[in-house]
Amino acid sequence: MTVPTSDLQVLQSELEMSVYSRAPLTFVSGSGSTLVDVEGVEYLDFLAGIAVASVGHCHPKVVAAICEQAGKLGHISNLYTHPQQVALAEKLSELTGGWKVFFGNSGAEANECALKLARRFSAERHGQPRSKIVALLGGFHGRTFATLAATGQPHKHERFEPLPEWFTHVAPDDVEGMRAAVDESTAAVMLEIVQGEGGVLPISEEMLLAARQACDEHGALLIIDEVQTGVGRTGKWFAFQQTSITPDIITLAKALGGGMPIGACLASPDAATGFAPGDHASTFGGGPVPCAAALATLDVIESENLLDNATARGEQLAKGLTAIVDPRIANVRGMGLLQGMVLTVPIADAVVERARAQQVILGTAGPNVVRYAPPLIVTEQEVDRVIEVTRTALVEVG
Ligand SMILES: Cc1ncc(COP(=O)(O)O)c(C=O)c1O
Repeated sequence: MTVPTSDLQVLQSELEMSVYSRAPLTFVSGSGSTLVDVEGVEYLDFLAGIAVASVGHCHPKVVAAICEQAGKLGHISNLYTHPQQVALAEKLSELTGGWKVFFGNSGAEANECALKLARRFSAERHGQPRSKIVALLGGFHGRTFATLAATGQPHKHERFEPLPEWFTHVAPDDVEGMRAAVDESTAAVMLEIVQGEGGVLPISEEMLLAARQACDEHGALLIIDEVQTGVGRTGKWFAFQQTSITPDIITLAKALGGGMPIGACLASPDAATGFAPGDHASTFGGGPVPCAAALATLDVIESENLLDNATARGEQLAKGLTAIVDPRIANVRGMGLLQGMVLTVPIADAVVERARAQQVILGTAGPNVVRYAPPLIVTEQEVDRVIEVTRTALVEVG
């Protein structure tokens, strides 16, 4: 006998801290782009967790890698070496052209690492540590104190003030503001290529170039937070590869582990010189099981040509959503398989709810934006279905 979702949710709210607003669904299994709930109903997952299950749920190669590694060596501390971590570091080095990596467990941890590295790099390079970090309004970098302070969404700060004070935020279209904000006290600029949580907003080339130039001029590092955009989501391994800039540091998490928790901070060999032994560490970071899962995930992305699929299906999705005739659609924006349908009215939650009633999982990115971040394995038919479901959902919301 299965426990109804409503009972489970009551129990959950009694047992757990109250931080999430959950939809009334309990999932018990998944395969590819499909999730199955406790009653056996199948859902098309067009959010992939939240941009995590890029090779789909329970990909056989990822499952096999996890099981094999769990049966061989589940944990070993970072005081010793294990082959999976070295193999993953080697693969990431190959993908970044020789960058060095630190492994953590999440996106926020990868960003904490980047911020600490920038602080130490500035101390080594300029003789004294710089503390200022310039970030963008609307950006999202995590929920720890430093990454929350980096997050350019004041409503998320309110209940946690005082926050670390070294962060300055610039509007995403304020190119002159970026140039003016970076100075001799700046350790780094931190931004996303597409603001995921902040409304699926692609940052302009002009802004990216201004950030790069300002960093070069003042000896600061450019950190690109690729936690949501990285590992193939935008159609390249990293979204910055679709722009004209090269950062000094990138951070990854979400898609990297194929569902296993792993985060990575990658730095150019020069930027990586900021750290010395003892400067940073993580008990679980880069463990054998998440590393084995990540290696299998990267292998699947390569062997199944998922970068090309992300590009093709992303174009199809953007085109199909743009073709929906509805005066409430302001525009459709994004890169690859990270797309946002921007609405003129705050009905994103209602659209997501109506899509759910048609067994399709979508997300939001603020009250006006419906977010699409499906597994990179999605098919042409699945994309067509989601466009149709969106059209119907909009009509039903009325
Ligand atoms: C761009 C970006 N950075 C950082 C994070 C934080 O990642 P995590 O929740 O794994 O700490 C997120 C999560 O949504 C994100 O989208």
